[in-house]
Amino acid sequence: METRIYVDGEITPAEQACVPVTDHGFLFGDSVYEVFWWHRGALIQQREHLERLESSAARLYMEVQFTREALVDAMQATVRAAGATVDDDAYVRLVVTRGSGPLGLDFRQVPRRGLIIVAAPANRPSAEMVERGLHMAFIDRLRMSARALDPSAKTGNYLNNVLALHEARLAGADDAIMLNAAGEVTEATTANVYVIRAGALVTPPLDAGILRGTTRTRILGLCAEAGIEAVAQTLRPDDLRTADEVFVSSSVKGLMPVTSIDGVPVGDGAMGPVTRAIRGRFEAAAAAEAAAQRA
Ligand SMILES: Cc1ncc(COP(=O)(O)O)c(C=O)c1O
Repeated sequence: METRIYVDGEITPAEQACVPVTDHGFLFGDSVYEVFWWHRGALIQQREHLERLESSAARLYMEVQFTREALVDAMQATVRAAGATVDDDAYVRLVVTRGSGPLGLDFRQVPRRGLIIVAAPANRPSAEMVERGLHMAFIDRLRMSARALDPSAKTGNYLNNVLALHEARLAGADDAIMLNAAGEVTEATTANVYVIRAGALVTPPLDAGILRGTTRTRILGLCAEAGIEAVAQTLRPDDLRTADEVFVSSSVKGLMPVTSIDGVPVGDGAMGPVTRAIRGRFEAAAAAEAAAQRA
């Protein structure tokens, strides 16, 4: 498959896709988006992503202006144009921008939302990458406060995360674990964070200032089914440093073990048994969902 991009009704190869410079999404990051994992012919956790898109938009005083059906049809058309087969895993990014209008911050004169969809081959981690796990770093930069720009809204304003990732890379790590102003663990730059201690799972609560990950929601449900105790509770850096296992989750990459933090191994420095078990259940749940969606 090859990358195809939908912009306001037209699907083209990536290099031909253009958005107007006057779009407030381009000018101010004034947009909302979702990234879907297209797997075995289905958009995984479609409803959860569409609900979150609407809730992100509401936090920006934005009306989406497209029905869920129209959004799904446009995503399917873009994936088809990209030539994805049922054996491909695709990355599908859906962006609703504020739209074009007068320059200036005031969006009240911007009549129509813009719609952009990117369908590209998914960059899923190989089996070796999963076994190696991620090397994370605590960084100095804080996750922004909900009173400044609520991290529970997935918006085109991602500089907080962009800079955090860069600073983690400068520190020699794969990704950052970000804290809030109270010194509590929030999340990684594009993934939620979990700790396993004595067989039980703990993940930061929503009010730590995190995105409500669709994968996080599914993992909490899968733990309940599997009889694994799982709670959302405040975590501090030492809880991660002394955990038996740590992992992160996001839609396209799924669950990835964290095998070191600030250069120090987590547990014995390899993917732990509880992470492996939940990861297996997650992949199986996605396959079952795809089969049900296609049926
Ligand atoms: C900041 C942040 N947290 C968490 C996630 C994970 O969310 P999901 O599981 O819905 O992909 C993402 C996904 O991109 C993210 O950007």
